Amino acid sequence: MRRKIVAGNWKMNGTREEALKLTTEIRDMITSEGSGGAEIILAPPFVHIAAVAHIACADGIYVAAQNCSSEAKGAYTGEVSAAMLQSVGATHVIIGHSERRSFFKEDHHMLERKVRMALAHHLIPVFCIGEQLDDREGGRHFSVVQKQLEESLFMLEEADFAKIILAYEPVWAIGTGKTASPEQAQEMHHHIRTFIARRFGNVIADNLSILYGGSCNDGNARDLFALPDVDGGLIGGASLNSRSFVNIVKSF
Ligand code: PGA
Repeated sequence: MRRKIVAGNWKMNGTREEALKLTTEIRDMITSEGSGGAEIILAPPFVHIAAVAHIACADGIYVAAQNCSSEAKGAYTGEVSAAMLQSVGATHVIIGHSERRSFFKEDHHMLERKVRMALAHHLIPVFCIGEQLDDREGGRHFSVVQKQLEESLFMLEEADFAKIILAYEPVWAIGTGKTASPEQAQEMHHHIRTFIARRFGNVIADNLSILYGGSCNDGNARDLFALPDVDGGLIGGASLNSRSFVNIVKSF
């Protein structure tokens, strides 16, 4: 079944105290106001995962890492493995965020390895794809997104692909306050689902949750989440405020 999901990507923000406050507020609001059946995923920085997982114990609130190593273990100074994340309470991991692709030069080989590593350790990948502004202006947005899917995910077995959550995040909309219009979002999400169906079949494509990300907030989430192929959101800036984030969760 296709699930409604709202994930908060906190990026590199928040001390331990701030992370715990945000988590407690979100948990308490969800407990009293309900989530309308949406799954909630909180993605704090690595160092706060264990503490956030401990607090976010309400039903339907999961904890994600923002990244994981492509290697299993060993001499990789500064890296964090999928097994470690799983052992401290993470259930999901964001892979292929555009900031990882551009600032940390993560290419499709590395992203495929990260996806496999996550799946091998029972973490659900939230895999991000999306075009740059010049790709869209040049009319290449569909082909860029198709290539990102083909290169990192299309070699997976069907059963593994079926576990993945996709996030379409047009890079020009991330952190810019510029959201894709509902028409642009629906057109791309539908395109992605059709492309997935060609490789993995209609059942897997129909059941796949495709989140929209890029300046999604409590003012525009309702219009975006009402679209037939948009199954929720990956929220950056607006996920750092508990009231805004919970309002987004309640926007289905
Ligand atoms: P934003 O970030 O909501 O701040 O645009 C989204 C993301 O990067 O996942």
